[in-house]
Amino acid sequence: MTPAGPRRALVFGASGQIGDALLGRLAATGWQVDAVSRRPPATERAMLRWHAGGFPDFVAPDECFDAVFSCGPLDAFSEWYANASLQAPRVIAFGSTSLETKRSAGDPGERALAATLAASEARVFAMAHARGAAATLLRPTLVYGAARDASLSRIAALARRTGLFVLPRDARGLRQPVHVDDLAAAAIAALDSPSAAGQAYALPGGESLPYDAMVERVLAALPERPRLLRVPSPLFRLALAAAHAGGRLHGLPAGAVARMRDDLVFDASPAIRDLGYAPREFSPTREMLVAD
Ligand SMILES: NC(=O)c1ccc[n+]([C@@H]2O[C@H](COP(=O)([O-])OP(=O)(O)OC[C@H]3O[C@@H](n4cnc5c(N)ncnc54)[C@H](OP(=O)(O)O)[C@@H]3O)[C@@H](O)[C@H]2O)c1
Repeated sequence: MTPAGPRRALVFGASGQIGDALLGRLAATGWQVDAVSRRPPATERAMLRWHAGGFPDFVAPDECFDAVFSCGPLDAFSEWYANASLQAPRVIAFGSTSLETKRSAGDPGERALAATLAASEARVFAMAHARGAAATLLRPTLVYGAARDASLSRIAALARRTGLFVLPRDARGLRQPVHVDDLAAAAIAALDSPSAAGQAYALPGGESLPYDAMVERVLAALPERPRLLRVPSPLFRLALAAAHAGGRLHGLPAGAVARMRDDLVFDASPAIRDLGYAPREFSPTREMLVAD
């Protein structure tokens, strides 16, 4: 009898923060990986073959995979997967809790994003079903840990530059920041969990804390110890409106500020039950926030 070779994975979004964490875990457990992204993966690893490319043009190597992971844009993956001639019994794809939090947003662009995420998830499930494969969708909350996220790392960068970070006093909505490596662990666990077939899971971090407390912990992790300045909420909104009118702060839409008051909290118990999900509490270090 010939011994079984290593398990084989096709990973999209290999250069991203979740993708890199996933490649690390796959390498540690002996997987042979074909990784796809336009930029190279952040870390060189054994048993890794990188394909420079992206959606929609990437043509999958004509080989069999045990699993396909999507750690990039879900809409582009779902369309690619619908048209690809690819056989793999398991598909694990990252979506987002924005599917729920932005469903009833005031901003039409945010509502459209939620609708796109929902349609993309449905497409992945339907196409997997049509091919006799099993798909699992994973929806992280606010992702951090690789020092290159667009939320907490951006807050850290701004605070280091200016020596302070300003928040409205009512920025008390609950958040559950989730570490990239906990997401990678969940993706691997989903592979071997029969209950995870055909399911979508929220993947929140291991702790719910108010927005301003989350920012406080980010600032406390920085050697410069920037100050957190809480200003009356109407004043904050006035200053923000002026900054927007002046063409600054494109990355901070009004909806994002309004949501600082809202609790964006998700139940981890289905993922704990089916995936053995065990996300860490929020204790950021400088290395998790600042890339040198
Ligand atoms: N970051 C968060 O807070 C957060 C929260 C909830 C859900 N998510 C979801 O989790 C997933 C991964 O997020 P992330 O934060 O790890 O993202 P990221 O660091 O921005 O990485 C995105 C990855 O997608 C790839 N990509 C982008 N456009 C592509 C295209 N046209 N064709 C092929 N690859 C493409 C990028 O590779 P190249 O640019 O090198 O091609 C990169 O590897 C995404 O689905 C995201 O929506 C993220």
